[in-house]
Amino acid sequence: MEKRPPGSYVIRKGDPGRAPRTAREDILVDTIPALNGLYHFAYPCRDADETRHFYEDILGLPLVNCMTSEKVPSTGEETPYAHFFFEFGDGSYVAFFDLPDYEKPAPSPNTPAWVQHFAIETASKENVEFMRQRLIDNGVEVLGPVDHGFVYSIYFFDPNGLRLEIATRTEGPGVLAKARAEAPGQLEEWSRRKAAFIDEQAGS
Ligand SMILES: [Fe+2]
Repeated sequence: MEKRPPGSYVIRKGDPGRAPRTAREDILVDTIPALNGLYHFAYPCRDADETRHFYEDILGLPLVNCMTSEKVPSTGEETPYAHFFFEFGDGSYVAFFDLPDYEKPAPSPNTPAWVQHFAIETASKENVEFMRQRLIDNGVEVLGPVDHGFVYSIYFFDPNGLRLEIATRTEGPGVLAKARAEAPGQLEEWSRRKAAFIDEQAGS
């Protein structure tokens, strides 16, 4: 058998709560190097100063890199822009592009506002509550905290209309192993229900 690249995806047989191995997991084990986590997430912004104020002064994420250019390296497009990065505690980043306009990025026209977001992890419920109060004190509207049973979260929008969550993990022992074991079945069941919803709508 071909040697597995260091750090590649490993399914441990006999993990408690593991679903039976699937063909999909066999492929993952032997051919795909590990993708370890978030490097950065990039989003457009309305105004670089406004975005810096929000992420650095309110959320406390330091600005650690800012590059400006007249040309987009990936596409060759000629346009001036700034691309700048704020660093999370684990070394990952949220990054923004500022172009020479003051347009707020338009939300997806066919997606409810609560769907698209990303969640920032913190160590405790107290931290979530501290950040909730800090956001409110800075005039940011906050939804929650919401206790999802395995995670405790607040939700809010940045000045660019990007929905953010600050969350802490609260799951009890074994909860994630059980969820993982059940996930493939849950997804199949959902796809069946969704097909039925769509059929019903088409028939009505
Ligand atoms: Fe979330």
